[in-house]
Amino acid sequence: MRMLEGRVALVTGSSRGIGAAIAAEFARQGAAVAVHGRDSDAVNTVVTAICDGRGNAMGVTGDVTSFDQIEMMRRQIEDSLGQVEVLVANAGASLAPPAPLEDIPETGWRATVDANLLATFLTLKSFLPGMKQRGRGAIITMASSAGRRADARAPIPYGAAKAAITLMTQDVAAQAGPYGIRVNCIAPETILTARNREQIPATQQAAMAEFHPLKRLGTPEDVASAAVFLASNASTWITGTVLDVTGGAVMA
Ligand SMILES: NC(=O)c1ccc[n+]([C@@H]2O[C@H](COP(=O)([O-])OP(=O)(O)OC[C@H]3O[C@@H](n4cnc5c(N)ncnc54)[C@H](OP(=O)(O)O)[C@@H]3O)[C@@H](O)[C@H]2O)c1
Repeated sequence: MRMLEGRVALVTGSSRGIGAAIAAEFARQGAAVAVHGRDSDAVNTVVTAICDGRGNAMGVTGDVTSFDQIEMMRRQIEDSLGQVEVLVANAGASLAPPAPLEDIPETGWRATVDANLLATFLTLKSFLPGMKQRGRGAIITMASSAGRRADARAPIPYGAAKAAITLMTQDVAAQAGPYGIRVNCIAPETILTARNREQIPATQQAAMAEFHPLKRLGTPEDVASAAVFLASNASTWITGTVLDVTGGAVMA
């Protein structure tokens, strides 16, 4: 039995990386998936791969720091696939390099907080009212180990925004629980996406793996499995949790 049979899901930021793996796994588990990003070619590539594997997917594009654009995407998905029952607010980015606080430019701070915290807020703001009306829904937000503990090498605005996402997740879980909506958060450590494989030298990857009790870095599929669990009926008594998908690197 597939774990998401018949569900309609949106995974923001699924044109590549972790989101693309979540979208693919959701489709394998029977969901109709809206694949999202700003880069329409990348979105189409993911949609085509899912459909070639006999999955059901459509593509939507838009900037998740704009409420109007999210609302437009919501209407497109509702017209094509139906009401979204599973929402993964995964899109995010770290847009200021690691630096001492006094050297962080205000523009980098604002851009990073907007790309993560504002984007997650606006995405939930768009989809929650419909879920409340229908009395069902599963929402997953995407934080990071950078928001779970201090690290002198971490970009502070990214960690701060991700930490705020974990608290927002729990506040929304408390508000939306009585409406039959579960809201959980995934907080991954470094994941070997195509981008990270390219950007982190192999020797550094090996050194980083040593700090994980499970002695390896994560894969997008590790995060996708956690997302399927939190989206599915396997977790119907779980809400307001932050699931550290870290190979043991974070034990909160
Ligand atoms: N990779 C890791 O090691 C890691 C660890 C912890 C947490 N995370 C978190 O996991 C999530 C996914 O990370 P990733 O590494 O898979 O990222 P990625 O490969 O850089 O992909 C980011 C995705 O988000 C989309 N996106 C970013 N900003 C957007 C915006 N303003 N509007 C619309 N779409 C936007 C991108 O779309 P386009 O490219 O099409 O524009 C892309 O689909 C992020 O929230 C990240 O912070 C990642």
